[in-house]
Amino acid sequence: MKVEVSPAEPGELDVDILGVPVSQPAVTARLPRFLRDRLGPLVESGEADGALGSAPLLHLNAELPLARVAAAGVGEQVDTDAIRTAAAAVARAAAGFGGSVGWLLDDSLPLAPAEQARAAIEGVAFGAYTPGRWKSEGPVRKAIERVVLAGHNSAEVTAAAERAAEVVDWIAVARDLANAPPNELSPEALADRARELADRLTHLEVEALGPAEIERLGMGAFGAVAQGSEREPRLIVMRYEPPDARRDLTLGLVGKAITFDTGGISLKPSLAMESMKGDMAGGAAVIAGTAAIAARRLPVRVLSVVAASENMPGGNAFRPGDIVRAMNGRTIEIINTDAEGRLVLADALWYAREQGATHLVDFATLTGAMVLALGDLYAGLFANDDDWRDRLLDAAAASGDHLWPFPLHPRYRRYVDSTFADLKNASALKEGSPVLAAEFLREFVGEGPWAHVDMAGPGYLERSRGDFLTEKGGTGYGVRLIVELAERLSA
Ligand code: BES
Ligand code: MN
Ligand code: ZN
Repeated sequence: MKVEVSPAEPGELDVDILGVPVSQPAVTARLPRFLRDRLGPLVESGEADGALGSAPLLHLNAELPLARVAAAGVGEQVDTDAIRTAAAAVARAAAGFGGSVGWLLDDSLPLAPAEQARAAIEGVAFGAYTPGRWKSEGPVRKAIERVVLAGHNSAEVTAAAERAAEVVDWIAVARDLANAPPNELSPEALADRARELADRLTHLEVEALGPAEIERLGMGAFGAVAQGSEREPRLIVMRYEPPDARRDLTLGLVGKAITFDTGGISLKPSLAMESMKGDMAGGAAVIAGTAAIAARRLPVRVLSVVAASENMPGGNAFRPGDIVRAMNGRTIEIINTDAEGRLVLADALWYAREQGATHLVDFATLTGAMVLALGDLYAGLFANDDDWRDRLLDAAAASGDHLWPFPLHPRYRRYVDSTFADLKNASALKEGSPVLAAEFLREFVGEGPWAHVDMAGPGYLERSRGDFLTEKGGTGYGVRLIVELAERLSA
């Protein structure tokens, strides 16, 4: 996205629409004179009441370069989420004309101007994104080509704007991947995309292992999931090794990329099964996030491992009752072939550790119960190390990709004990399924800190949120968190 910071007065901005944050209760006294005069009457009449996500428009009738002003409601609690929602509403208000969107940074808000800048750019990008790439008539909304920030001109604002402008493009990459139909986006096609992205970036190498190598490495858990599909799996390995990276740490990012999850022999019901094309959203976040780190040239080593496969029923599909051996030597009794995510992650996590990752984080749309618990906003976080967990929580809070901590406890382990094998991939009990999945994964992370992000809720939405930020489909959840985490680890 093209972004600039302008020193011009609001009225002199040459943009199609200028978003002006209006909080609740609405105060216009602090606004520049020009805006105060024009928005004051709207506030007094109650047309612009500052309600979060409202964006009544004022047309300026060609009296100035500025064409329109939107009184962008930021509500009572003005935080970065409120700015994102408001900026997204302005982008939506611009759907009919597109072009350029301005945003006024307001010194009287309880948020640093650089934070406002970042949130506003993210909001505009979220609101402007169109998932309908496959519509023959073209996008339903006119494109927004340019975002102009005004009202506060400083080095911090410029840096924040430049960073956000780059990151939102990588979020769009992740969203496009999650929205791509599963007939188009096979595991092989995902690997090709990862390679294409990396080709444009320095110090980033991509390798994609096929079925023969997956078998040779002893990845019996990953292989079992993949065997029911005509389409070959890929273990996508991305290595970002900048020469100036710190030597003592390699961030290991692991992603679940089930390009379509039917449930396998433990077939899912057909209602909303089409949403299971989004079961690769974790892998998409890892691919786009890794590319973003490389594009930002962050001085930190990253090893990313994305397990890409379909989960299909068929003559050669794995079965409930099968016992498979994972790469770390553990045997797993298959109880439910729909608990496939933990199987592909088991081998991907072990591989990442073996290849030198010191600090692991996996991103996965792993359990339906996580959606029931947290809905579409927060992902659940599980970790085997308190310090690593806190670092993820801090990065999440700063990034806007929200995380909430959940427990691990050795006493949950008995629920994944198997009579026949070392462990089983699911429990007959529905209780606590996100925790059981995490306890299962813990067996495959080796020595060292590991965190698991169950993003089944915010990763891919079965329906629109109604707050303009994201609509049905991929959200790009995880990309901002990955960039923020990598920045903090580089510092
Ligand atoms: N991909 C699903 C989880 C999911 C469900 C993500 C709904 C997003 C929305 C996962 O592979 C799955 O099927 N999990 C099962 C596990 C169970 C069989 C132990 C679940 O959560 O029901
Ligand atoms: Mn499943
Ligand atoms: Zn799945």
